[in-house]
Amino acid sequence: MKEKFEKLLRLKEEAKLGGGEKRIEAQHAKGKLTARERIELLVDPGSFDEMDMLVKHRATNFGMDKKKFLGDGVVTGFAKINGRPIALFSQDFTVFGGSLSEAHAEKIVKLMDMALKIGVPIIGLNDSGGARIQEGVVSLGGYADIFLRNTLASGVVPQISAILGPCAGGAVYSPAITDFVMMVRNSSHMFVTGPNVVKTVTHEEVSFDDLGGADTHMRKSGVAHFVYDNEQEMFENIRRLVDFIPLNWKDRAPEKEFDFEKDLHLPELDDIVPENPNKPYNMKEIVNLLLDDGDFLEVQSEFAENIIVGFGRVGGISVGVIANQPNVFAGVLDINASIKGARFIRFCDAFNVPLLVLEDVPGFLPGTEQEWNGIIKNGAKLLFAFAEATVPKVTVITRKAYGGAYDVMNSKHIRGDFNFAWPTAEIAVMGPKGAVEIIFSKEIKSAENPDEEMRKKLDEYTTRFANPYIAAERGYVDDVILPSETKIKLANAFQLLKTKVDVNPKKKHSNIPL
Ligand code: HXC
Repeated sequence: MKEKFEKLLRLKEEAKLGGGEKRIEAQHAKGKLTARERIELLVDPGSFDEMDMLVKHRATNFGMDKKKFLGDGVVTGFAKINGRPIALFSQDFTVFGGSLSEAHAEKIVKLMDMALKIGVPIIGLNDSGGARIQEGVVSLGGYADIFLRNTLASGVVPQISAILGPCAGGAVYSPAITDFVMMVRNSSHMFVTGPNVVKTVTHEEVSFDDLGGADTHMRKSGVAHFVYDNEQEMFENIRRLVDFIPLNWKDRAPEKEFDFEKDLHLPELDDIVPENPNKPYNMKEIVNLLLDDGDFLEVQSEFAENIIVGFGRVGGISVGVIANQPNVFAGVLDINASIKGARFIRFCDAFNVPLLVLEDVPGFLPGTEQEWNGIIKNGAKLLFAFAEATVPKVTVITRKAYGGAYDVMNSKHIRGDFNFAWPTAEIAVMGPKGAVEIIFSKEIKSAENPDEEMRKKLDEYTTRFANPYIAAERGYVDDVILPSETKIKLANAFQLLKTKVDVNPKKKHSNIPL
């Protein structure tokens, strides 16, 4: 009996070594952690229950029958993050470079199928040389099996992809389907074709980092949602993210205790919007003041910075913030900002995270570059996402709400639940100068003193339209409030909306403009 127990323990010890000491050293030498070290840093101590530790590949070509490693290059199982369950897989680069074999894929598929039945988030720690070359099409089939699960799991359980090494070829499409992609500077790379193929096909010379490094995917492509300097930092932030979101589409994010008795007035808010409507200010100051403890987890912080998205809490309730940023291109909506906002809104709506919208938007960005690249269909994504969302939706207009952007940014007309405006709000078809030039062009041109006439008309328009009161007269905003009382209003609104029920018409699925 004892021998049998010892055999099991021996096997498990062997499995824990993955590809062996030498390859572990090589992994460390690259500044990377092993699959198991990563899990230890990510999950609650002692909470990891591993599955399929004894799985081996079944390939025989190219002498593979003599090269077998227990676990076959991926560690899978269930664990806890801050006491809440998650499913996770962690690819082991020390075994055939973490490449994906039939058996490796089967382990991930099994985990995903179970996570879906149980209803827990799936976290993938990716560090892989791609398809296991020795297994050919069987490996490609394994990838497709995973892509299918990623797609079916979308909107059912949150999926987070941490990229901790290479991720190339078709392999990139699994993370791309998941809700959040995280990368580490210098050690993670994602591309469909690497620098050598790029050189052959397009004659471009480009480094790994420039082509598919973390900063490239954060700033240029928008593929990465979070970027970190090292793996530890990433794991801390995965834990933080998991805290803001529910386990599955039927669940709700954990509500934190909140002291409603304390004074929630924020007089600092009264001084942020400048007197001059054309002067920028930093919307992040408002975001930080309104969120509990100033705790804001920004998503895609360096992409399309004219819109800010991320998670925080108001009155203990987890919310998704979507805010125009007057500090960057005056907060105008362009293609990238629309796509960034729409994707985030759809995550929040799929997973019952209420939306908090802070609005100061002069409109959509004009120009041939935007028109020819489809600002029409891309701007429509943002509109569609807001209109389709049935989660609690609260808007605060801090300053400009001009033109189509007024409608798009969670207006009352597209089912905003509580829409507030500050006295500094300007809700109009367009800004005073543009409007006056169009509607009074004849009067101004024919006036004795055109400059004087222009000033007069500007004053007239500003007094009449550059305010929130016409919208308030119609009930398009529910209340005009002092900035200092915004936190109280929001905390009450999100508490009240906890029992909100709203549904969309029955259908197979919608057809968001892509
Ligand atoms: C089998 C692989 C492998 C692979 C690496 N290894 N990639 N084994 N299949 N795809 C093995 C190596 O033989 C080596 O084994 C060990 O992993 C570590 O690899 P090194 O090359 O020594 O490591 P490093 O120098 O860090 O380079 C890492 C790498 C490189 C950049 C990932 O290995 C590489 O370019 N691999 C091939 C990548 C690739 O072209 N994959 C196919 C992409 S197409 P030993 O025994 O020496 O430790 C694809 C399609 C997916 O994936 C399609 C889905 C639809």
